[in-house]
Amino acid sequence: MHRILFVCLGNICRSPTAEAVTRAKAPHLALDSAGTAGYHIGNPPYGPMQSAARPRGYDLSGLRARQFSPNDFNSFDMIVAMDADNLRDIEAQRPAGNTTPVTIFTPDGAPVPDPYYTRDFDGCLDLIEDCADRLIAGLSRTDDATR
Ligand code: 4NP
Repeated sequence: MHRILFVCLGNICRSPTAEAVTRAKAPHLALDSAGTAGYHIGNPPYGPMQSAARPRGYDLSGLRARQFSPNDFNSFDMIVAMDADNLRDIEAQRPAGNTTPVTIFTPDGAPVPDPYYTRDFDGCLDLIEDCADRLIAGLSRTDDATR
């Protein structure tokens, strides 16, 4: 249950950050990220996002954007969207019969605000660090229950 795909719109701000932060906290998980849009395919994470993440110990420089694909439903155990628009765009591509859970990263389903527009890169990192802790805690509770 530990292959997790983080998805946002562009795959250059929120989802690569969610991937790197969660990886730093839980290196045993198999993590990736993607964007519902193809605008930035092949690009590294957005410069200001990298600059905000680096002093916290997260190196985003090696990541490259890719677009979400319906095949991702078969390659991951869980898909984690950054907002309700992402969730809707992901669900619209679900293959018939597939049951992979798609959730929103925040515990209450509120959006992770897009710092590409808000310019609040540090606030985005604060929220992503908190959501990553909660996601990891939820996974270990599930592991305990199924052990
Ligand atoms: P992200 O932010 O979805 O967190 O990667 C965005 C980055 C770029 C664009 C949209 C959202 N864009 O339209 O170029």
